[in-house]
Amino acid sequence: MDATTLALLKSRRSVKPDLMSAPGPSPAQLEEILTIAARVPDHKKLVPWRFVVFEGDARRAFGERIAEACKAEDTMEPSEIRLEAERNRFMRAPVVVAVISRVSPKPGAPEWEQILSAGASAMNMCIAANAMGYATCWLTEWIAYSPRIREALALAENERVVGFVYIGTATSRPEERPRPALADVVSRWSA
Ligand SMILES: Cc1cc2nc3c(=O)[nH]c(=O)nc-3n(C[C@H](O)[C@H](O)[C@H](O)COP(=O)(O)O)c2cc1C
Repeated sequence: MDATTLALLKSRRSVKPDLMSAPGPSPAQLEEILTIAARVPDHKKLVPWRFVVFEGDARRAFGERIAEACKAEDTMEPSEIRLEAERNRFMRAPVVVAVISRVSPKPGAPEWEQILSAGASAMNMCIAANAMGYATCWLTEWIAYSPRIREALALAENERVVGFVYIGTATSRPEERPRPALADVVSRWSA
């Protein structure tokens, strides 16, 4: 039995990016994290996902695109404070990875299953980084649904943002949050 893995999974908590700082994973660690994220169940082996990594200056450069999207798409004229927060959105963590779902028509592998595989890759990414001691947070926020951010990510028609996985070092440990009682979510089928 792998007690370490069980302990990790039993205690796992997301850490909000505001509670993250450097360091993030090294290049070798990030490669390992992405390799593990790419090792998920995948009906018909379609590889129905891809990853876009943001690190270093690219985070702030992308932040400019986020601020432009905010200005163009928000129903109210955003304040300068809001725009600065948008410019810094990806600066909250040393590494941000956009997980992109890409579905292709394939008999036997419905769209739903391809999207689930992409979700699994985001979760594997979080667990791999957590196992290395890094904090993670899987967020969509408004940017996952913004037409201009779709454009900035060069998303094709068949692609959607599964989430942005923030990876960094926790500055404080999040408290436990209540989890569902198993009795509420588990039943045993009987005839
Ligand atoms: C697809 C997806 C999108 C999410 N987007 C957000 C988000 O935009 N904002 C947010 O506060 N939490 C979001 N979450 C929830 C967090 O990732 C996290 O699960 C939550 O804060 C609870 O923490 P826990 O993972 O420790 O239970 C999202 C989760 C999923 C699965």
